[in-house]
Amino acid sequence: MPDDATMSDDRGLIGLPAPPPIGESALPEGAFEAATVVVTGGGTGLGKAVAVEFARLGANLVIASRSSEHLADGAAALAEVDRTGGERVLAVECDIRDAGSVAAMFSAAEQRFGLPDVLVNNAAANFPVPAEDMSPNAWRTVVDITLTGTYLCAREFGRRHIAARRPGSIINIGASYAWTGGPGFAHSAAAKAGVKNLTESLAVEWGPYGIQVNGLVPGLMPHEDMTADIRGNLDNTSDKDACQPALRVGQRHELGWAATFLASPYARFISGHTLVVDGANWQRRSLTNPSVVPIREQMGRDPFVLPDHPGG
Ligand code: HXC
Ligand code: NAP
Repeated sequence: MPDDATMSDDRGLIGLPAPPPIGESALPEGAFEAATVVVTGGGTGLGKAVAVEFARLGANLVIASRSSEHLADGAAALAEVDRTGGERVLAVECDIRDAGSVAAMFSAAEQRFGLPDVLVNNAAANFPVPAEDMSPNAWRTVVDITLTGTYLCAREFGRRHIAARRPGSIINIGASYAWTGGPGFAHSAAAKAGVKNLTESLAVEWGPYGIQVNGLVPGLMPHEDMTADIRGNLDNTSDKDACQPALRVGQRHELGWAATFLASPYARFISGHTLVVDGANWQRRSLTNPSVVPIREQMGRDPFVLPDHPGG
């Protein structure tokens, strides 16, 4: 792929330009000074990248997820950009499926920094599986984490803000298959469609209380924390750049920049919107349809056989 607009291949294709380097910011220095931002799943991947961009702009950061290892990783990344060397970072173990655990996480955040100003609902669950092979518990697990977990965190944030009469901003991380469906990811796609819809309901319900609610959808942004399942699926594509209309995949800090903008004072009249940062990949269509390859064939699975115990 050409690096920038000054280079092109012999077809004249240049792709979308590379972003400015990590470390730069469109917002003024200190834009989030004295603000507190909660990022669920902020210890890994895109959540960590989003948290880092808020920290770079001076925010106190609360990262919340199940694994202490992930949280330690996230806290270390944040300490690198936080000029106080980590004093502005709180890592809280939390399972977002559990309303009690979510409430305890918000109480810990409030005790340390005061009422959080921004919530980034980033934590989610996903693995590729043909719908006919999925167990009821596999479906429930992904929907519980991705949709119910997002709702429980938003609910806790909303209740505390409404009671305190304080404005706030919620950003729900989504996926573009909320619009298109996601063959091979039926559970996650249905849950993300729910997240998009929830964003719209909450934006209207809570606008009068000063709470903005927006969605933010990443395109393909590979990172080293991807689960083995997701990474394995990705590895089936040989040239990830060539598969994108942008002729490149996204970089994590591009999502971080979009998140900081949506939560900034410059986006105060944006609510109920879902912003897609994917170089137009989700609108892709071809003049002629390629042959359909069933999902289980794409996944190298044998033909489906009805299990001995229907319902399992
Ligand atoms: C089929 C699976 C499975 C798999 C788990 N299950 N992995 N089924 N294929 N690969 C089933 C289990 O058998 C079980 O059902 C049920 O799911 C719950 O599994 P547990 O391991 O008990 O769940 P839990 O410990 O709560 O872990 C949740 C998890 C795990 C989702 C399974 O992967 C996780 O913690 N993921 C968090 C990180 C993550 O998923 N990141 C991806 C976000 S990326 P039974 O019936 O056996 O009890 C993303 C990208 C979107 O969303 C765009 C991609 C293109
Ligand atoms: P990831 O690294 O696997 O992050 C998922 C995070 O969710 C982990 O930090 C995990 O932490 C946390 N989590 C999972 N279950 C949880 C639970 N029950 N309670 C609390 N935290 C939980 O994935 P990612 O690629 O960064 O994805 C981040 C977001 O972007 C997700 O919403 C995803 O759907 C979306 N997305 C990603 C891409 C992409 O290309 N990467 C594309 C489209 C959409 P613990 O394991 O510590 O709990």
